[in-house]
Amino acid sequence: PVIYLVTPTYRRPEQIPDLTRLAQTLLNVPAVHWIVVEDNSALSPAIASLLKRYGIPHTHLKAQMPEKYKKSKLKPRGVANRNAALDWVRSNCKSGVVYFADDDNTYDIRLFEEMRFTKKVSMWPVGLVTKVGLSSPVVNDKGVVVDFFDGWMANRKFPVDMAGFAVSVQLILEKSDVYMPYVPGHEEDGFLKKLDVSPADIEPKANWCTQIFVWHTQTKSNTPANRTTATGKRYKGTNIDTL
Ligand code: UGA
Ligand code: MN
Repeated sequence: PVIYLVTPTYRRPEQIPDLTRLAQTLLNVPAVHWIVVEDNSALSPAIASLLKRYGIPHTHLKAQMPEKYKKSKLKPRGVANRNAALDWVRSNCKSGVVYFADDDNTYDIRLFEEMRFTKKVSMWPVGLVTKVGLSSPVVNDKGVVVDFFDGWMANRKFPVDMAGFAVSVQLILEKSDVYMPYVPGHEEDGFLKKLDVSPADIEPKANWCTQIFVWHTQTKSNTPANRTTATGKRYKGTNIDTL
């Protein structure tokens, strides 16, 4: 089965470095189709050329966050992008698995073979999530998911991170009206509840959720500073201002 890997992304100085790292991870993954969805009014040429350069099978889309959410402090990040990718999958795919892979996380390539044969929904631990450093399903000695561990429960039925689950294309086609909600922090839970997943359906991966193959890393951003050369001139040698 093909893994449809959905990556929301938005313009910032760390964007190209983050996407470069993810592209070079995906070079090591067979049968993957990378759906890169920009939160932008136009497709960025730098991303188009990155996608072309690495030769990973891909689809390059754009979907902007609705204006009303852009002003809020807590934004539903990447939701418009992921929903546009769900539309693309529903019109273009018949089988396979969908994984929502944010551009800044760190992925061990062994993760992709864990999720590849997902029947409905598979789950596994994600490292470096919240202050407790881990978000994970709790699996009993029969291999059944019976509970969840997460530093932020917030009354969620599925307190999991976006990077901690994959869904079969078949289920996404069956539940043809299910999208991710524009509710910050509740995107995963809202989506999984609308897919009508029951805990008994969950396929625990990564050795019954005892191994970490993905980390919720975040690339540090710097506040812009003066860019002067050793002789006090303005530095204009590269495109650091445009990315
Ligand atoms: C955490 C979760 O890991 C996300 O999957 C979830 O969407 C987010 O919280 C949330 O609940 O809002 P976090 O590291 O805080 O993620 O968020 P980012 O990595 O900054 O954003 C998630 C994804 O959306 C990234 O791929 C990012 O490039 C994209 N994004 C972010 C946009 O497309 N537009 C934005 O304005 C911000
Ligand atoms: Mn992130």
